[in-house]
Amino acid sequence: MTAPKIGIREVGKTFVSDKREVEALQSVNLDVQPNEFITFVGASGCGKSTLLRIIAGLETLSRGEILLDGKPVDGPGVDRAMVFQHYSLYPWLTVMKNIRFCRQLKVVADTVHSEADVETAAGRADALLSLMGLTSFADAYPSQLSGGMQQRVAIARALMPKPATLLMDEPFGALDAQTREVMHDLIRHVYRLEKTTILFVTHDVEEAIYLGGRVVLMAPRPGRIDSIYEVPLPAQRNQDMKLSPEFTELKRQILARIRETSGMQTDLEQLEKLTAIAG
Ligand SMILES: Nc1ncnc2c1ncn2[C@@H]1O[C@H](COP(=O)(O)OP(=O)(O)O)[C@@H](O)[C@H]1O
Ligand SMILES: [Mg+2]
Repeated sequence: MTAPKIGIREVGKTFVSDKREVEALQSVNLDVQPNEFITFVGASGCGKSTLLRIIAGLETLSRGEILLDGKPVDGPGVDRAMVFQHYSLYPWLTVMKNIRFCRQLKVVADTVHSEADVETAAGRADALLSLMGLTSFADAYPSQLSGGMQQRVAIARALMPKPATLLMDEPFGALDAQTREVMHDLIRHVYRLEKTTILFVTHDVEEAIYLGGRVVLMAPRPGRIDSIYEVPLPAQRNQDMKLSPEFTELKRQILARIRETSGMQTDLEQLEKLTAIAG
């Protein structure tokens, strides 16, 4: 067993606002292996975004700790890149400049500004543009691109400093079904090529299974890990696999468990009772 890339140990988070306490996360434990693609699903409010933000170092934790290569996280770092649902591109910069922007910040921060470094950065930006199928859009502005293309720019930008870990919070949530399928195959391709460890949050169970090696199901009130499913699919995936019996069976199981843990089951039972009374 290799040392985990990310060790999540007894992590808890309590938000306090107007004297009201929300237990967003309670006793979360999970080891994420290097180069694992792990997906998180669960009802809204079960703490998926909070967990990802804590790992990113964008949010503090109330209890427990997050270990990155064995060392506690104490803030954001270039080793972890985050991609959100809303492409946070700079509208006044071209695609190429958007991709190179963060890298330039890092170069300045490190005060390494040799020509070789600038050249490497240019080569990497070109390679990422090509990987994302955006080469002919290098000089376009974000407003000239479709939603899917903008999100590809955001992913390329996140990959620019070669982060060991990619944290994705419902990155394809705003895209149409067709564009999402394309993005799924693209992100699996990126994952194999860049050997990144990916933590991917979604509310779409099919997306979670198709992308992940493991699916973590979280439950709300308090936010916690309910169960973890191994995905019985090979590393090389294709869209037809979504129709396989293993895929549909796992999807059925996970959907049923989400219903059980989210309280939706009870709502439905009550609705049936009410309908029976009314009828
Ligand atoms: N900044 C915050 N202040 C107060 N409560 C918050 C804050 N962020 C999240 N929460 C609460 O924590 C819980 C988990 O939220 P979140 O992590 O966004 O869930 P998810 O991403 O699974 O929908 C929810 O009850 C939410 O209302
Ligand atoms: Mg969320």
